[in-house]
Formats: sequence, C-alpha cells, structure tokens
Amino acid sequence: MRDTFGNSYHARDIASVLHPQTNAKTHLEVGPTVIVRGEGVHVIDDEGNRYLDSGAGLWCNSIGYSNERVAKVAFEALSNLAYFPIFKHQSHHAVIDLSEKLLSMAPVPMSKVMLQCSGSEANDTAVKIAWYYWHALGKPEKRKIITRMGSYHGSTCVAISMTGNPAYHRSFGLPFEGFLHTDAPNYYRNARPGESEEQFSQRLADSLEEMILREGPETVAGFWADPVQGNAGALPPPAGYFDKIQAVLRKYDILFVADEVICGFGRTGNVWGSQTFDMRPDMITCAKGLSAAMLPISAVMINQRIFDVLKEESNRNGAFVHGYTYSGHPVACSVALEVQQIYEDLGLFDRVRSLEAPFMAMLSSLAEHPLVGSFSGCGLMGGIEIVRDRQARDIFPPEASIASRISTAAHRHGLMMRVSPTRIAFSPPLIISEAEIAEIGKKCRLALDDVLTEGDAPGIA
Ligand SMILES: Cc1ncc(COP(=O)(O)O)c(C=O)c1O
Repeated sequence: MRDTFGNSYHARDIASVLHPQTNAKTHLEVGPTVIVRGEGVHVIDDEGNRYLDSGAGLWCNSIGYSNERVAKVAFEALSNLAYFPIFKHQSHHAVIDLSEKLLSMAPVPMSKVMLQCSGSEANDTAVKIAWYYWHALGKPEKRKIITRMGSYHGSTCVAISMTGNPAYHRSFGLPFEGFLHTDAPNYYRNARPGESEEQFSQRLADSLEEMILREGPETVAGFWADPVQGNAGALPPPAGYFDKIQAVLRKYDILFVADEVICGFGRTGNVWGSQTFDMRPDMITCAKGLSAAMLPISAVMINQRIFDVLKEESNRNGAFVHGYTYSGHPVACSVALEVQQIYEDLGLFDRVRSLEAPFMAMLSSLAEHPLVGSFSGCGLMGGIEIVRDRQARDIFPPEASIASRISTAAHRHGLMMRVSPTRIAFSPPLIISEAEIAEIGKKCRLALDDVLTEGDAPGIA
C-alpha cells in the first residue's frame, strides 16, 4: 500500500523504523507486515490479508482491536484533563478511582497502588521498592533478586537482568550483578525419568533453597515469578510448585513478587494467576490486560507490611523519590477503568473459565501431530511442545529455523501465533468464540502439516 505521495509504506518502514525484538539485518530484506485495521480477534494487513490473532498482540489485547466505549472515555478524558502529574501530594479523580478499583480486586490484601506505563517499569519500580524496604530496615546488603530461567520480566536494564534467558543478555553486558536465575519450572523438558510433578517441584524448591544458602539469605531481597511463564511458551507450573517455593521464601524472609503482567485480568481463568496457583505475594506487578493494551499503563500493588516501612523511610528522606512523568496518567487511568467495567459487563472472566475446556481440547488435538510432543495450559493461555522426535522429545537444531518456518506457514493460512523453537504459545483475546478457537486449531494443524511435508529442513524426514 502507498501513501498519498505514492511512496510505499513497506520501503518507508525499512528506511526509518528500528523494530523491537527483530533481526535488524533480515528486516532490510523481508520488510514489515503492515497492519492497517483490526476487527474483533482479527487483523488485516495492507494487502488485504486477514489474520486470526491467536496471541492477542503481545498477550494483551483482551477485548479486540477497536472499541467505541473506550474511545469515548478517552475522548472525554482528553477533553477534560489531558494530563496532570501526581507528584508531591497532587492527585486527580481517575488515579484515585483506578487505585481503589485495583485494591478491591487484589487476590490478597494490598495497601497501595503505584501506576506507571509498562510491565518493565512496574518490575523496575517493584525492585526499587524491595531495595528501599530492606534499606529502611537497616539491611542494605539484602538486595539480590532471584527469578527463574524461562521467565521474561521486561526490557529495561533491571527488568531484562531479571529475565531468565541468556539470549536477551548477550551483547549488552547484562545481567547486572546480583540478579540470579533459579531453575525453570518446565516439567516436560526437565523432569527426571519417573519423577512425578510433585517430586519435580520439590527438587526445584530444594534447589532454590540451596541457591539462597549459597548466596546467604541475608543478601537476598526478593523472588519474582510470573504464575504462568509466558516467555517459556505459556507454561503453567507443575503441581505443588508455588506451595513449596513459598515455604522456602517464608523461611528466609524473602519478599515474594507476583509478575501478573500477562496473567492478570482473567487470562488464567481467575482475575489473577495468583488465585489460580494459590500465591500470596507481597507485591504484584500488572499491565497489559489492565487497559487491554488500549493505552500504556501498569501498576505495582504493595501490601501493608511494605507500605508501613516505606512510609517511615520516605519521611526520613523527605520523600519517596521515585516516579515517572506519566505515573497515573489521567487518560490512561480512565481508559483502564472503562476496560475493567467492560470486563464486568461482558462477564469476560467467567467466560474464560467456560472457554477453558474447548481451548484445552484444541491444544490436545494438536498434540496428536507428529511435530508436537505435548501440551499444557489453563484458562485461555497454553502451548504445544515442538519436537523432532516425540519419543526422545528432541528439539530441532537452530539450522532448521523451525520457528520461522511454522510462523510463515501459519501466516499463509491466516493465523498469527507466537512460535519459539521449542513451543507454540496461544493466548487469544478473551472475547474469542468457541468457533474461533476451533479455527486456531485447524489453521495451526495446516501450518504444521506444511512444514512436515516441505521436509527439507534438517531433522525433518
Ligand atoms: C511476565 C512479563 N512481565 C513483564 C513484561 C514487560 O512488559 P512491557 O513489555 O509492558 O514492558 C512482559 C512482557 O511481555 C511479561 O510477559
């Protein structure tokens, strides 16, 4: 498609845009898929191709790609108070309403809410609060942060240091010192022969305890976990996992933070992933579904224990010196509040629970494919394991470019999905219908068949 001067958007993109999470050199050759419109769970590109988006954008677009109710609220907010900072005792109605709303929804009692623009910022803020907390208690050496391999917590320098994936650290000289990564809770890939899920969970909890003792419990500030690991391919934890992990954290007085950036707001079948997996965090970070990605906004919720300490320390220092220009932006807060109201009006969280069975049945049927070894998920979030050999659970070598081959084939069949070399993840908008879930299964199977029959990649017979 061309602009009014006859120039191709494709060429203009290549000439001007640095794309996040993209191979910059390949992009010069292949260029962008330019999306021009969205309708419900579908998006349409500038060549008229229509795709079912099985990933809700980046796990976030819960109520579809356009919404008049939200547009009206944003227009009114922009017309009334387009911006005002909430630094130094200033406030406005939208930030108060939204903070109260979040506290009323919290899975465990929470005391205060701090708002910013992204999941990365929320995790950065929560790390600073954890450090502040231990400083205030006279334990400044208690500052190491433990997360899990396979987790993603964002792209800022701290949030990416928390992320358990060396590919995100390479060439940046990261992670920062003091960011440690314990075992991935991946039962399918990492369990020992004959080990039950409970036994595997216990082994991981023991390994976490060994790490804490090795480092010295007096040096560990907090442990972060996303209830379902999104970046590992929408991977739910094994049975008993969070029970056993939380017992270790309690034993050594380590703050527990639930990263609900993906799982919050219905994705796992409850409002919070913490409810689905019986987690009792001291802080919660959330974003994405908070505004259904209609405007950038994220939140950190802190409990009373943390607020009591923070309050005294801020008084000693003159202020809690942390905050962003856009913290509690009135337009984003108004939009988030309206989105929460829409969730309630449409009964979307109950709807996720009722769609869980057909969603899991779709994953289960895909698991019969020769390229798929297993499946797992909950709510409207799950994935299938890509294998070269189902018996051996082998993964494809990098030269097979399996992820991009499957992705390209899926595009041909009008499906967008999140593919890694080992797993395909699905997290459709919460407004998806049962028929559209079945369509994801059908299109994914066609894509996998294509890759299997192409047969020229290393490892594909
Ligand atoms: C679990 C989790 N935490 C944090 C983030 C970072 O959020 P953002 O991209 O809004 O900074 C993500 C992003 O996908 C995420 O999946």
